[in-house]
Amino acid sequence: MIKAAIMGYGTIGSGVAEILEENRDVIREKAGQEIRLKYVLDLRDFPDSPVADKIIHDFKQIEEDEEIRIVVEAMGGLNPAYPFVKACLLAGKHVATSNKALVAAHGTELLEIARQKRVNFFFEASVGGGIPIIRPLYRCLEGERIEEITGILNGTTNFILTKMDEEGETFEAALKEAQSRGYAERNPEADVEGYDTCRKIAILTAMAAGREVHFEDIYTEGITRITDTDFKYAKQMGTSIKLFGTSRIHDGRASAFVAPMMIDKANPLYSVNDVFNGILVKGNMLGPAMFYGSGAGKLPTASAVIADMIEASQNLDSHVPMGWSEKPLCVEPIETASFRYFVRIAGSWTDREADVNTYFGGVDVHVLEGLDEFAILTGRMQEGAFRRAAAAFDTAEQAEGRPGIRQMIRAEM
Ligand code: HSE
Repeated sequence: MIKAAIMGYGTIGSGVAEILEENRDVIREKAGQEIRLKYVLDLRDFPDSPVADKIIHDFKQIEEDEEIRIVVEAMGGLNPAYPFVKACLLAGKHVATSNKALVAAHGTELLEIARQKRVNFFFEASVGGGIPIIRPLYRCLEGERIEEITGILNGTTNFILTKMDEEGETFEAALKEAQSRGYAERNPEADVEGYDTCRKIAILTAMAAGREVHFEDIYTEGITRITDTDFKYAKQMGTSIKLFGTSRIHDGRASAFVAPMMIDKANPLYSVNDVFNGILVKGNMLGPAMFYGSGAGKLPTASAVIADMIEASQNLDSHVPMGWSEKPLCVEPIETASFRYFVRIAGSWTDREADVNTYFGGVDVHVLEGLDEFAILTGRMQEGAFRRAAAAFDTAEQAEGRPGIRQMIRAEM
């Protein structure tokens, strides 16, 4: 029998406790022995919960108990998750975490400690919730050179964008609905500003390249400036707008970014809607492979933690090689990446046609009845070149006393 502890009895932690009970037989069979929960660490008491007799408040009890071989970290955030996880690994315990902030910020160090201590630091649940993606990257696709990963990695923002797309809602109304359904936090910044997606694509990039990725180097733009008007154009154009975390890996470097992206129906991620996540991985031999499912939520995410606990149980006395090295991967600035650009411009197309052609070259034009503006879709341009063209266009319009660009959304189609 293996004794385990859970740190944090919130949504994920309670889900892990529930699955350990509910799927006890299948877990025993796969792990080779029973995994029994001994402690649940939390600041609070849960007198009416099934783990009432296991609740402890002092981390030292876990750290100093040699019986505990596997620790689940489901506290979230960095403090005290980071010192607690580090102490568990140093004490020779395996750790499974769902905490992307922890993995993105301290993964390199924690993986190294796990290697030295011959234990495991697993984090399947940190990206894509219940969707298997970390393990496929280090196991099923280990013979591949991963060239690109593009994911819809945040369920909350995907729900908001789906509402705006399908029901014509404003960003504010869709956010409110996401909050009332319990998807978005009262402070939704980490989701809507793209920070959550940034950490997740950083982890996936590091897994794919085998090198450390500094998430701070990844250009990150959220969805707060996407409007219902953008979706009106999208509808007419047969497109949609999704929050992408993308990483293109080549020659030991990555072009990585988080940004809303206009895509058409030919894109496999087009039909990833609501709170679902989708991750498209392109290997140099495999070509594209798509991972789809519940990217958040109690039981799906806890299910991924359970899989990590089982792998730890199967490797109690050995370290499973996975993760990345301390050598950092160079992340290129967004200015070097290329996209098409959807741009909304004030005024009428007939007045602006000459200037648009001067600064952006040949474009597709879209006009919506009743609006004092039009939209263009440029050809593929490097971001740096686009920014220079957009600034010069705006300056030229201002010189003539005319308003210029109202909106820009990158496009992949
Ligand atoms: N806030 C995250 C999401 C939770 O909406 O996807 C899962 O990481």
